[in-house]
Amino acid sequence: MRLLIIGGTEFVGRAVAEEALRRGHEVTTFNRGVTAPDVPGVRPVRGDRAQDADLDRLRGQEWDVVVDTCGYVPEVVGRAARLLAGSSGRYVFVSSVSACVAWPKERITDDTPRYDCPADARADAGEYGYLKAGCERAVEEAFGDRALVVRPGLILGPYENVGRLPWWLRRVARGGQVLAPGDPDTRMQLIDARDLAAWMLDAAERGLGGVFHATGGNTTMGRWLAACVEVTGADAELVWVPDRFLLDHQVRPWTELPLWRPDLPEYAGAWEVETARAEAAGLRTRPVRDTVRDTWEWLRGGGEPVIHDYAQLPEHGIDPGKEQRILTAWRSRGAA
Ligand SMILES: NC(=O)c1ccc[n+]([C@@H]2O[C@H](COP(=O)([O-])OP(=O)(O)OC[C@H]3O[C@@H](n4cnc5c(N)ncnc54)[C@H](OP(=O)(O)O)[C@@H]3O)[C@@H](O)[C@H]2O)c1
Repeated sequence: MRLLIIGGTEFVGRAVAEEALRRGHEVTTFNRGVTAPDVPGVRPVRGDRAQDADLDRLRGQEWDVVVDTCGYVPEVVGRAARLLAGSSGRYVFVSSVSACVAWPKERITDDTPRYDCPADARADAGEYGYLKAGCERAVEEAFGDRALVVRPGLILGPYENVGRLPWWLRRVARGGQVLAPGDPDTRMQLIDARDLAAWMLDAAERGLGGVFHATGGNTTMGRWLAACVEVTGADAELVWVPDRFLLDHQVRPWTELPLWRPDLPEYAGAWEVETARAEAAGLRTRPVRDTVRDTWEWLRGGGEPVIHDYAQLPEHGIDPGKEQRILTAWRSRGAA
């Protein structure tokens, strides 16, 4: 296939580029060339997708599949989709489960409604998930049933550009008592960027269209954190501290202790994403231990996360002094 990746250099886009080259596809990337280098073997076209003059560099070329990994603003995504609709077979848009109104409050099924963001909305029209829903519409308007909208849940793996698993691996590698959040049996879902990339390419090769939720690797907080201890070989002891205690000590869920969603009504559906449609279409995920191990190998080899601010998340990770204060308070609870 002739493949165009809009983006393609950091994490998911990078995994798509690597897998597509491995399969023998001809890969063009479109990015500004400022954040990270392209995968060797791709043909880069430089440009800012928000600038019409730059997008024009894609005019007059033909692709079997476009994979858009860096669409956040409907009006901007719509411009690329319209420009490419006549010259490209199919448009794969990487959205997010955040595009669903109910997530993370409620369990979401393959048919859960998305936000009603218009297809021509600008960046200031709303937040990340609302805008992703508008981006999905913009692609569907231009490509119709040739649009494949993929909504991943949490994505981890080598080259992760949010800094969630890298933070945990580095923290565990420092050793000692590690503040482990909540209940080790809390079920969670994640997908390795490489499995996501492979499945999107499978789906594109088979000419699939429609909306798919893509997550998996069903695991628990306890299992992937234990994998962090195992693969780092660290002398680390996980000290599990219940949600309520952490909340009472003003620990910020999801970011200060990355990946921690306490048992609160607003997160009740965080790890309850139905993926039946994608599984029926062949989605498979590797064991979580492999994702943890390979991310550690990547970090040990000098990998440095390019922290991407798409979700405008506050910096990840808890201050070491605060972590120690909470551990001390936990150990001495009830002593007073
Ligand atoms: N991380 C998660 O857990 C998670 C969960 C659900 C969904 N998602 C979605 O998954 C996707 C992850 O993407 P990724 O960052 O891994 O993709 P990526 O394609 O690997 O990296 C982002 C690319 O976009 C390019 N780019 C940024 N701004 C650009 C612009 N104005 N014009 C042209 N190119 C531009 C960057 O290069 P330059 O900066 O050099 O231009 C870079 O190549 C996102 O769509 C995200 O919403 C992520």
